[in-house]
Amino acid sequence: MSIRPRVLVTRNTIAPSALRLLTAHCDVDVHDDREALPRTELLGRVRGKEGLVTMITDVIDRDVLDAADALRVVANVAVGFNNIDVAAAWRRNVVVTNTPDVLTDAVADFTWALILGITRRIPECDRYVRSGRWDSFSLDLLPGTELRGKQLGIVGLGRIGSAVALRAHAFGMHVVFTRRGPGDAHLGQPIPLDALLASSDVVSLHVPLNPGTHHLIDAAAINRMKPTAYVVNTSRGSVIDELALTEALVSGRLAGAALDVFEREPALVTPHVGSGTIEARTAMAELAVKNVLAVLAGSPPLTPVPECEPSAQKN
Ligand code: GLV
Repeated sequence: MSIRPRVLVTRNTIAPSALRLLTAHCDVDVHDDREALPRTELLGRVRGKEGLVTMITDVIDRDVLDAADALRVVANVAVGFNNIDVAAAWRRNVVVTNTPDVLTDAVADFTWALILGITRRIPECDRYVRSGRWDSFSLDLLPGTELRGKQLGIVGLGRIGSAVALRAHAFGMHVVFTRRGPGDAHLGQPIPLDALLASSDVVSLHVPLNPGTHHLIDAAAINRMKPTAYVVNTSRGSVIDELALTEALVSGRLAGAALDVFEREPALVTPHVGSGTIEARTAMAELAVKNVLAVLAGSPPLTPVPECEPSAQKN
């Protein structure tokens, strides 16, 4: 009888189809809760596990990697991996994987929901009607901003940024971008961040969080933007210095912000649901499990995180 590898899944919110696939091949220890595993419990339960299926809220740093004495693979159910010390994992011969591609359309669609929501003031309109203040049609009620002919600045043209750019053409927007990875060559040449900030009407953030992008949009960056501009963030909260953003919004230095991820202060806010479609979240969980199974079977993972990718972990 072969010994089945032991795998810890840190949350019971993983898609059932992914859990069934994992359970068919491994002895699975699922943290049976919607909330994150408390740190001390995480440190205890990683012991003896060959695989971890993790969420972006699990900090997988050197202490966790040291406690995980049998570990071979950490499969993050996310495209981002700033919660994992990738270099420390590589030093311990632990493979790190993420879930790119399967969530690209979900996040791009949601980015557009935020762009339209903030420029057409949809949350304000909703609150206005629900508060009982609306009695009849009025020409000057809660006017928004049109997108045709305006400029969308994509900070970080990777997979998701490219998908957001594609949709922009349907709205008649001109797109500029800063390059992140290989990107989409047919979208033209990247421009410097400062030029993008100074000329765009909507700035949408699509960079990973790492030491180079932490507070990329700080007070100085905001001061370069047009006072009529909007900022949209579906990447990571810490890419924006939110104190600076809040000050800019309160003082009217910026027209608005729509954030799916945030450090502290909200504007138009949603609870980190950029990839939150049933299709994407199921595909992400299944991809994470397939990565675990591949590594534990001695095969290359489907979507490894390269060793040289900087993560935000500084441990
Ligand atoms: C979600 O935020 C992800 O990185 O997939």
